[in-house]
This record gives sequence, structure tokens and C-alpha cells, in this order.
Amino acid sequence: MNAVGEIRRSQQKPKRSSPSVYSGERPGRILAQFIAKVLKPKGLQGRCITCELFIICILTIMLKTAASLSRLGTESAFEVLARAQALMAQGKDIINLGIGQPDFKTPDHIVQAGIKALQDGHHGYTPANGIAPLRQAVAQDLERRHGAPVDPDCVVVVPGGKPTMFFAVLMFGEPGAEILYPNPGFPIYESVIKFSGATPIPYALQEDNDFAFDADQVLAKITPATRLIIINSPANPTGGVTPKTEIDKLVAGLAKHPHVALLSDEIYSQMLYGGRTHTSLLTYPEIRDRLIMLDGWSKTYAMTGWRLGYAVWPKALVADVTRLCINDHSCVNAAAQYAGLAALTGPQDAVAEMMVAFDQRRQLIVQALNSLPGVSCVDASGAFYAFPNIKATGMTSRQAQDLFLNEANVATISGTSFGAWGEGYVRFSYANSAQNIERAIERIRKVMK
Ligand SMILES: Cc1ncc(COP(=O)(O)O)c(C=O)c1O
Repeated sequence: MNAVGEIRRSQQKPKRSSPSVYSGERPGRILAQFIAKVLKPKGLQGRCITCELFIICILTIMLKTAASLSRLGTESAFEVLARAQALMAQGKDIINLGIGQPDFKTPDHIVQAGIKALQDGHHGYTPANGIAPLRQAVAQDLERRHGAPVDPDCVVVVPGGKPTMFFAVLMFGEPGAEILYPNPGFPIYESVIKFSGATPIPYALQEDNDFAFDADQVLAKITPATRLIIINSPANPTGGVTPKTEIDKLVAGLAKHPHVALLSDEIYSQMLYGGRTHTSLLTYPEIRDRLIMLDGWSKTYAMTGWRLGYAVWPKALVADVTRLCINDHSCVNAAAQYAGLAALTGPQDAVAEMMVAFDQRRQLIVQALNSLPGVSCVDASGAFYAFPNIKATGMTSRQAQDLFLNEANVATISGTSFGAWGEGYVRFSYANSAQNIERAIERIRKVMK
């Protein structure tokens, strides 16, 4: 190209490759220029982290992302997992009692069904709400377990338990609306309520009530602005199980508030100990037209990484939630759905074996925690979490979490990661071997001296 051609070319406006709304290119260039022109000549590149972070913050502000993004919280278990993994990469022997996932492998017949689905050519999209045989199997499983009839057309299969809570909150949450949720509770509830613009209204789960919810307390928080109540039993992080009498009372009280919908998170419905029973909200026909009942495969069948869950929706909301699915993820991957079908229709022995192991570990950890100075732990009756009270140690929950991780090499989760009313507690997941649980508690005992 000659010199004139060069000049013309340089005068041409750069072409936009696409009408993208993403404006990150420009701030990225500014940061690169700042590093090249200011930090590099002074030999500060890569050293002046504060300067670089400051610039990144300024640039992030310049990107003008939606305000709602700053209201979105997180699940600290994933952050603790990342920190624990970073420490492991440094050669530290970390015992992970932080993350809430079974340490068992997915039972082999389920894995084989997933493999077979791929080999049989199930590689394409499926109906957005899930393949028909899977929705039928879910309905039959629920009828078998809870004795309540379920219409397979009201079952919507999604990638895990979380999408149902996100969709339910998006459906009912907006500025001016109020949504009730448990505190301490699964952190995603509060996070997505805030994201939706609705006002989060916590109700307390208290140790002196074995962390069951108190129906009167929940009902007393209902106002004309209340759109949705979230309940969770068996509960994360407390392991609490709400008795049927309290659920009866809640449902009876809801008769006076026909404008209020209910999201019942029953993902731990098969994880109960000490003769406890689960009362599904599906067994109350009077609220079926406003009940979203969430359950799934992650915990019961050790399938957290498969990303498979479902909810039974009120008939009137099925079309709306299906549109949310189509907009969000189209459908759940086909092989995972066939694996889920095998899980529900195949032998249940592996589930029973897991529960025997969890129960032994539960008894072990509760007893061991109660032997620590300043620690007391109620007899957790569901899920796979112990939620000891550490107030008498004089530490905050966060200090305890940091001490246990940094000094004892044991990952746990601060109670405040589950809401402000989790202060004074720490969550221990006993989805780890009995041997590791014993080792973890002994290490903690040493650093608490
Ligand atoms: C109470 C509760 N609900 C839902 C979920 C989400 O499950 P999934 O991993 O299937 O999204 C969890 C996961 O920890 C949970 O504790």
C-alpha cells in the first residue's frame, strides 16, 4: 500500500464489528495505556496493585452496569471453597466441612443411564419444561413419597434447585413488593429478592425452637404488599425440620391472605434423622393454586454437578415459568435428564446407604462439637449440616470461620453468610468422612485453646 493509501486508511473511522452494548473495550484500553505509560516507565507494573485496582474500580463505574447488579449477593460456600482450594494448591491439608454437597459418587446405574443417553444420540434440545417421561416419573415419585397427586404438566425440570428460586422471585418480586424468607437461611433467597427490587422481609429461625419456623411469627409479617413467602424444611444451614403442626398452622393462616404465594424449598426432603418425618406442602390441596414446590436430585442422589432440579408449579404459572426457561437456558441437557429418570425409577438402595452414613456422621459431629469449649450444638434433624452456637467462645462467626480455616485447616462457613441473624453460629457440613470429621474437630480443639 502507498503512503496516500496508508493515510486514507488511518483516517477511516474504525468499523464497529457489531452493534454491541458492551462498552468494556474502551476502559480496557485506558487501563492498558495507564499501565504502559505511567506504571511501566516507573517500574511499577504489576507492583502497584492498589493503583491498578483503583483504576479497575473507576473503569467498572464507567461501564454503567445495571443498578440491580450491585444488589445481587452470593453464596459464600463457593468463596470458601475457592480459598480452601487455593490453600490446598499451596500444599495445605485442608478438611472441607464448608461445601454443601454429598461426598459420595452418583450411583453407578444413574451414571450409566447418562452415558447411554449420549450413546443413543440424545444430543439435542428437549422440551423446555423437561422430557415427558421424566416429568411423569417426578409426579409418580412425589405421589409415592407424599401421597399427593401431581399433574406431570405442572412439573418443570430446570438445571438444579436454584433456577426455581430465581424464577419464582423474578415472577413475584418488584419494587414495592415484599417477600418473606428465613434468616438464617439459604443465602440465595435474600440475594435474588434484593436483585428483583422487592423488599426482603426476614423471619427468624431460632435455636430454642430447634431452628424450625414459627408459623405465627411468619403470618404476623404478612402485609398487603407481601407477594411470596419462602420456606425451607429440612433447612440449610441449620438442619432444622419444621413439624407438621406448624405447617398446618401456616397453611390455615394463609387462608386469610389469598394474595400470597408460597415457595417451599424441599430439596432436603429425604434427608431426615431420628425418626423425623417430612411434611410436603403438596399435601395441602387448598394452597396448590399458589404453591411452588422445589425439589431435585442434587442432594438425594449426589448429583450436584449434573445440574438437575424441578418444581411443581401452579397450573396458571406453568406457561410463564416455561417462557423463563426458554429465555434462560432453553432446556436442561438431555443426558442429565435421562440420568435423573434412572435415579427416580431405579433402585433406591444407594440413597438409603448414604443416609445411614450421614446419620452416623451427624451423631459424631454433634457430640464432638458439644465437647469443644464454648460451643453448643442442637441435635440437627435434617439435611447434612450442624449449626453450633459459638457465642460463648467470644469470637464472631467470621472470626471463628477464619480461625478454623487459617489455623486449623478446616473449612466451615460463618453463620452470617446465611443472614445477619446467623451471627454467633458456624455451619459445619458433615458431607465428609467420619475420620475427617474427627480429625477436623481435634484440629479445631487445638486452636481454640
Ligand atoms: C436449601 C437449598 N435449596 C436449594 C439448593 C440448590 O441446589 P442445587 O445445587 O440443585 O441448585 C441448595 C444447595 O445448597 C440448598 O441448600
